Amino acid sequence: MSSMPDMVRIFDTTLRDGEQSPGASMQKEEKLQVARQLARLNVDIIEAGFPVASPDDFDAVQSIAQEVGNLPEAPAICGLARAVDKDILTAAKAVSAASLPRIHTFIATSPIHMDKKLKMSPEGVLKAIERSVTLARKHVEDVEFSAEDALRSDRTFLAKAVQVAIECGASTVNIPDTVGYAVPGGIRDLFRFLIDTVPGAKQVVFSCHCHDDLGLAVANSLSALEGGARQVECTVNGIGERAGNAAMEEVVMALKVRKAWFGLDTRIRTEEFFRSSRLVSSVTGMVVQPNKAIVGENAFAHESGIHQDGFLKDKDTYEILVPEQVGVSGGKLILGKHSGRHALKDRLETMGYVLSDEELDRLFVRFKKLADQKKDLYEEDLETLIWEEDTHPKDRFVLKRLHVSGGTEIPPTATVVLERDGVEHRMAGLGDGPVDAIYRTVSKLTGTTSRLVSYSVKAITGGTDALGEVTVRIDLDGLLSIGQGADTDILVASAKAYLAALNRLERKKMKAGILSPHPSNAKATPSP
Ligand code: KIV
Ligand code: ZN
Repeated sequence: MSSMPDMVRIFDTTLRDGEQSPGASMQKEEKLQVARQLARLNVDIIEAGFPVASPDDFDAVQSIAQEVGNLPEAPAICGLARAVDKDILTAAKAVSAASLPRIHTFIATSPIHMDKKLKMSPEGVLKAIERSVTLARKHVEDVEFSAEDALRSDRTFLAKAVQVAIECGASTVNIPDTVGYAVPGGIRDLFRFLIDTVPGAKQVVFSCHCHDDLGLAVANSLSALEGGARQVECTVNGIGERAGNAAMEEVVMALKVRKAWFGLDTRIRTEEFFRSSRLVSSVTGMVVQPNKAIVGENAFAHESGIHQDGFLKDKDTYEILVPEQVGVSGGKLILGKHSGRHALKDRLETMGYVLSDEELDRLFVRFKKLADQKKDLYEEDLETLIWEEDTHPKDRFVLKRLHVSGGTEIPPTATVVLERDGVEHRMAGLGDGPVDAIYRTVSKLTGTTSRLVSYSVKAITGGTDALGEVTVRIDLDGLLSIGQGADTDILVASAKAYLAALNRLERKKMKAGILSPHPSNAKATPSP
């Protein structure tokens, strides 16, 4: 991990704060896949989860620590813990297999949080910091302390809290803007104040963690760096609690493009940004807005005549970074119908995916099927195939066959054959349109009482033979679930997306104890 003074550590919390986005919860396999990609991005620290929250969270953090935490040049693997013994001991156990384990313990320091939420006195909070950081240090060398809601805390008390954490052995001190209240000038000033006045502050790394409630998370993170912070907590695509966290790709590219201004650097392999963005979007079902900086579909599209004219004369007229720097390939053609198993394996390896022979065999069959339907295959197509392969191992509902008829003369009718718990069922039904016919029929076949919240469709690659990707959100009494499906036939993609959402809902119901629970489903601890 970097310790040079002009180096900024990138602390990724996609798997913890990002996972707290409504509807963005991930399964263990999905978390592992994201963690592998974060390692490829070369982040310094992965906050892999909140181990005490549930046995599933513990299991995911432990698996990430074991696998990703032991890669060559592995990032530190971090587990979150409230400032209580049980959380810290659980986090210590979950991250113990990593070569660089970190415990991140936090407690609120603002009057409103101490008084109304914790019902603790300021003295009680200082004691909890002392106890928790000391306990964490007994288990790992690398302890991070966060003063939750720091930006609404009394400065003098915050400085005291930070001092106690440093005295007890915290090597990173995080000053989170938990509710997204900060403004750039204010947060810069706060970091300067703490670093200048707290004894021992210059010996530790100060970290910022900004939420985007006022749309200022990235600006505030950059200002915190100007104030002396040397760690930024952020997420891929800026996902996170409420309006989200600071978007990693935006912070890092601002530092890179404006290096002369900031004089700071990161170790991030920026060419991995686009792929990371797509992966997180696929796994969470959170669509990236087209005009999103750095990774949005339109981030490099020049539409107006004047812009196009200038761009064609000299790219620098309207472009401050080139798409290749962030991994946008411009839809590079990679494989086709005649490509063999070996070419597929090679290509996957250059994309960073190493599959077992058995996994490769399965993927190759699906690859051939897709290549038959679609002339040209792009990296994005392969990633969708892999994602589907990785994340739907034991689905309750499996689409077997689909036939849809419609047009101007006959009412839309769908005939669906699906497997439910291993048994095939068949049904036909009408609808207001072909997708409606499919969804009504699937609802009857699965017996679901969930409500469709949203349905969106987009073409993954250009051309009329593009792989269409459908994203569906469903809700069952407050339990949200997201599913995605991709196919060259948009109706098949729609059916797959709906079934993916229903399968994920089944897993969530299981986790929430609504279905006959798995023995490991203990009662959940509330999220921070
Ligand atoms: O926003 C916040 O305060 C947090 C802490 C747990 C660091 O996420
Ligand atoms: Zn947060």
